[in-house]
Amino acid sequence: MTLLDGKKISNDIKNEIAEHVQSMVAKGEKVPHLAAVLVGSDGASMTYVGAKVKACERIGFKSTLIEMPEYTSEEELLEKIHQLNTDSDIDGFIVQLPLPDQIDEQKVLMAIDPDKDVDGFHPTNVGRMALDLPTFLPATPYGIMELLERYQIETSGKNVVVMGRSHIVGRPMSILMSQKRPAGDATVTVVHSRSKNLKEITKAADIVVAAIGISEFLTGDMVKEDAVIIDVGITRVPDQTKKNGYRLAGDVHFESVSKKASYITPVPGGVGPMTIAMLLKNTLLARERHG
Ligand code: GUN
Repeated sequence: MTLLDGKKISNDIKNEIAEHVQSMVAKGEKVPHLAAVLVGSDGASMTYVGAKVKACERIGFKSTLIEMPEYTSEEELLEKIHQLNTDSDIDGFIVQLPLPDQIDEQKVLMAIDPDKDVDGFHPTNVGRMALDLPTFLPATPYGIMELLERYQIETSGKNVVVMGRSHIVGRPMSILMSQKRPAGDATVTVVHSRSKNLKEITKAADIVVAAIGISEFLTGDMVKEDAVIIDVGITRVPDQTKKNGYRLAGDVHFESVSKKASYITPVPGGVGPMTIAMLLKNTLLARERHG
């Protein structure tokens, strides 16, 4: 069994981007500038956004963190998005999800200028992805494709089972995996909360992408020998033996599944760091496109 070391690969990618940034600086060009909007103080979201901003600093990007209170109205957030859309110094920005209940997520995502939508969540960009047109690919599925590629794991003609149909991970993952080269070229099955005979389906998979948000759901008896396992889940599970009172668990029961898998991503240190690296890659692309 080989661990798919997202931490290492994401570091390689960040070093590649940092080199690129240095050459931009040497030529007197403007460096990429990413802004992140965080509404409220959800612990996990604060951690993720903090990691994104820190990564920007490390590779020489400019970054701006915009923190808004939990009670922010939809109008106030839309106004902030309008400012970011029209601020020519900002190359790309993200609005961290989930948003508080009083804010309509879809309305917010649709307000983002598609040319600055480095998360790739705007309907225009989702449509462009589905039609194989150049766009910003959503960072998590993009990171998974990159991780598989850098470990030279073949996807062409393989049976890929995507568990989950979220707009952020499952849906785009299934699209990328089914697309022609240079994407996945795989035979894709999507399973979700209404699926029947789940185990039968997952057992036939060469590659499983688990993105359902239920901790340790995929167990060893549900996968075939030598399957490739990608774990997108990250849930805080109460654990009194830990200093902060919780541990991080994936959607995969690592102990039992790792005994059968040929390759598996750890949690943390697998998919998570890849998401950040690909967001940075998208921001660099945005800077280059804006010229
Ligand atoms: N929440 C969970 N994942 C993501 C992501 O990739 N981008 C944003 N904006 N919010 C998220």
